[in-house]
Amino acid sequence: MSFTVDILTIFPEMFDAVLDASLTGKARKKGLIAVHAHNLRRWTEDRHQTTDDYPYGGGAGMVMKVEPFHRAVTDLKQADPRPCRVILMTPQGALFDHATAERLSKEERLVILCGRYEGYDERVRLLADEEISLGDYVLTGGELAAMVVVDAVTRLVPGVVGDEASTRHDSHAHGLLEHPHYTRPAEYEGMRVPDILLEGHHAKIEAWRRRESIIRTARRRPDLLAGADLTDNERVLAERIVRGEERT
Ligand code: ADE
Repeated sequence: MSFTVDILTIFPEMFDAVLDASLTGKARKKGLIAVHAHNLRRWTEDRHQTTDDYPYGGGAGMVMKVEPFHRAVTDLKQADPRPCRVILMTPQGALFDHATAERLSKEERLVILCGRYEGYDERVRLLADEEISLGDYVLTGGELAAMVVVDAVTRLVPGVVGDEASTRHDSHAHGLLEHPHYTRPAEYEGMRVPDILLEGHHAKIEAWRRRESIIRTARRRPDLLAGADLTDNERVLAERIVRGEERT
């Protein structure tokens, strides 16, 4: 069975345009991944299909109710016996990164809970195995964040990106930013592609790319260097760049 993602949201229509486009769309058509956005209101039992309510204790804003999420997660788990990981999208969660995307791509099935308004009833949290945040800012809801997670995770599912080497070299895959890329023409308005890329010497090209990747990371994201897998010489180079001592 293909890698499956079930999303619980009160705005399921937000997902289709994004998930049908590009590689995710192709992977869905090929049956490599199955992504379903479910309307949370299906699991309400009142006439108004209420999914939120006033906060106990007063205060501004509405709170997502626990019952629809609880019923939905129970139903989805019963409908498919495979183990699944339940994820809650919230700005209070752990920051999403490449390592998390890799880990989640190895699951068989994800269920993603998206909330709107001021937050969730605290008991919704008990349904989740983990909580994920996209960054230190507040979105109007978890939907956009869930789309980002689904995109980043599904492209790591085997077969989704045709050439798997291209995900192995991704920025962040090894704790470094990726090296620069060029395609034709070799010269454009006086800007030349580095000669080394045109010479076809594979080992030299690999060495150049590795060095550029280290230089780029040291310049743009020195915070990543501590967790990067570098040789002693590479670390010396990176530190010289950070201190502004290396001219390249
Ligand atoms: N919902 C609202 N803001 C969010 C964020 N930054 N990350 C994940 N879910 C969210």
